[in-house]
Amino acid sequence: MRILGREDVAAALAGLDATVLDAVRTAYTLHGQGNSEVPFSGFLRPPGDSGSRAITLPAYLGGPEPVMGLKWISSFPANVDKGLQRASSVQILNDLDTGYPTAVLEASQISASRTAASAALASRALHGDRPVRTLGLIGCGTINRRVLDFLALTHPELRTVILRDAVPGRAETLAVQLAAERPELRYATGDLDDALRADTVSVATTDSTYWLDLAAHPDRPRHQVVLHLSLRDLTTASVLHAYNVVDDIDHVLREQTSLHRAEQETGHRRFVDAEIATVIGQGKAPATERSVVFSPFGLGILDLAVAQAVLKAATHDGIGGDAEGFDPGQHRVTAAMAGGAA
Ligand SMILES: NC(=O)c1ccc[n+]([C@@H]2O[C@H](COP(=O)([O-])OP(=O)(O)OC[C@H]3O[C@@H](n4cnc5c(N)ncnc54)[C@H](O)[C@@H]3O)[C@@H](O)[C@H]2O)c1
Repeated sequence: MRILGREDVAAALAGLDATVLDAVRTAYTLHGQGNSEVPFSGFLRPPGDSGSRAITLPAYLGGPEPVMGLKWISSFPANVDKGLQRASSVQILNDLDTGYPTAVLEASQISASRTAASAALASRALHGDRPVRTLGLIGCGTINRRVLDFLALTHPELRTVILRDAVPGRAETLAVQLAAERPELRYATGDLDDALRADTVSVATTDSTYWLDLAAHPDRPRHQVVLHLSLRDLTTASVLHAYNVVDDIDHVLREQTSLHRAEQETGHRRFVDAEIATVIGQGKAPATERSVVFSPFGLGILDLAVAQAVLKAATHDGIGGDAEGFDPGQHRVTAAMAGGAA
């Protein structure tokens, strides 16, 4: 079985963003064609009200290189105050003939990459030909840091990034780091109004209190796309007034997301306008005067697609190791019979 730890995955991901973007786009297309199996995620919330949780994402993705496996991801938001990552994850890939595990990868980087790639793809598809010159980042953590990488790929016309975080100093710190890494862009920190004036706004916070009322920020541009990655920020009214695009309607209308609450409050789900695979397939932006909100539940097929790309790059570059003994060995009776043994 192949084993790729944190440094292995980081090395394999280096320079791989365009490949990751393609892998995510293909995964969405295959999902839109029904060429996937995505059981609902299972949520485990340890006792106490720390907001910590762990989620299982089993999935199968078809196409020319089918793959199946399981992502197991923990979210412990209190880690961040201690200088640790909020999310930790392991991705298992399984052989499609035997079901045996074939690879285990450190997957927090894969998860962040696939989330950011899907957000950037959605921004491109939902804006169509319209340029995106300004990006607002609400929440200056791991996810939005990666969103910029992929948005710079899907929107090479991007010029300015406006950063906003609820905790003093975090937006400024990220702005300094980004300025060192991507000096070609301009960075500004600001309040919520400032961030919400951008062409595309990515919301990736750890605030699950449905606190963001888009109508309270009237200076937003006409054709704004809001990437609602953290799923529990928007008020019900914000959802109901928006043109809502999701990754999978059955998945996203669960687990008290803002859309799930909107469904509970209205008794219907007619406010969901499209799934992203359809928009990508049509090749043009939706014709709407409403703000467009993309709410991706985060499908396990994206993790599979990116893990597969990472594994391929690692194998090509001789990165990673092997661990023996993770297959269950031979069947006592049938192996003996096949071999003619007693
Ligand atoms: N939809 C998906 O597929 C998907 C995938 C991965 C992560 N996520 C979600 O993205 C979110 C961010 O993840 P992360 O790893 O970047 O977390 P992180 O802890 O690294 O960063 C979150 C940041 O949000 C800030 N924040 C909290 N409340 C805020 C508010 N009201 N306004 C502005 N900033 C605020 C925090 O101070 C922190 O800096 C999480 O909620 C996570 O569950 C979604």
